[in-house]
Amino acid sequence: MKVSVIGAGNVGATCADVLAQKDIVNEVVLLDIKENFAEGKALDIWECAPVNLYDTRVTGSTNDYSKTANSEVVVITSGLPRKPGMSRDDLISTNAGIVKSVTENVIKYSPNAKIIIVSNPLDVMTYCAYLTAKKPANEVFGMAGVLDTARYRAFLASELNCSPKDIQALLLGGHGDTMVPLPRYTTVAGIPVTELVAKDKLDAIIERTKKGGGEIVNLLGTSAWYAPGASAAQMVEAIIRDQKRIFPVCAWLQGEYGMNNIYLGVPVVLGKKGIEKIIELKLNAEEKALLEESAGHVREVMAVLDKLNSQSA
Ligand code: NAI
Ligand code: 2OP
Repeated sequence: MKVSVIGAGNVGATCADVLAQKDIVNEVVLLDIKENFAEGKALDIWECAPVNLYDTRVTGSTNDYSKTANSEVVVITSGLPRKPGMSRDDLISTNAGIVKSVTENVIKYSPNAKIIIVSNPLDVMTYCAYLTAKKPANEVFGMAGVLDTARYRAFLASELNCSPKDIQALLLGGHGDTMVPLPRYTTVAGIPVTELVAKDKLDAIIERTKKGGGEIVNLLGTSAWYAPGASAAQMVEAIIRDQKRIFPVCAWLQGEYGMNNIYLGVPVVLGKKGIEKIIELKLNAEEKALLEESAGHVREVMAVLDKLNSQSA
């Protein structure tokens, strides 16, 4: 079984590395447009195999998509990352061109692959890949919620001085500052988080989560990669092992949550067919309003993509 990761930069190489260490597929192919870059990263990861004890063969390719043929899952991370002062949305025109051409190549060689988009602006790049791939929407989806809930869970674990393993949490909406962490669906070993963390502290953690991507950009001068790469690899694992994990995933809504024709983060069941089910929560009025605000923002950026597409048609 083969998984391909397009873009051998910070997130792509980390995703390939985490996947190799999970030892769940025969081969991981890393591909990049930069000459010899993916080959170098792949060789370095493969040379870890004798130390970290896995069999997954990691290979690299400079833009030769035939090497990715018949991939079960393809993760698309190619594109520019944010710099300080930039929002994810500032990346749209450059990254849309990249995601479109990459998706065309991916589909040519792996028409049945489940495609996970990571490139930003995430919700709209996932829409871009969906329009290009012309595949069922349950096979084209985006990674954001796994990362955003990981940040939320990590901050809660620090606050409570407890294991992050015991924190279960959910978050909805777009991958941006309007994302909607849901304290009502957050528990610590089954205990509602609201019984353990005071409201002002919880509000501060939610605000920090919403701006979690920017916090790292300000520290590093570029965006995060360890947690994003690991989050994408966790989604790949759920598909490859048909785990039926429930994750927040950027999915195409057709009536769910009262919304149509929009990619937005919602809880889904992830298995070998990709998104096997979208779970609809009974949101209260406040949560609904926040989700609608987030959807409104995603729609504005989708409209920018639609305009770019109509200009180039
Ligand atoms: P990076 O700059 O380290 O890597 C991007 C790679 O894409 C580069 O190696 C570049 O050569 C390659 N690339 C560019 N055009 C290509 C093409 N046409 N074909 C193949 N490869 C191509 O960037 P990084 O940090 O890995 O981030 C990648 C993307 O992921 C960015 O758009 C970033 O904003 C996004 N991101 C999304 C997250 C999420 O939660 N969805 C989290 C973190 C990053
Ligand atoms: C992140 O959340 C920038 O989307 C990227 O780290």
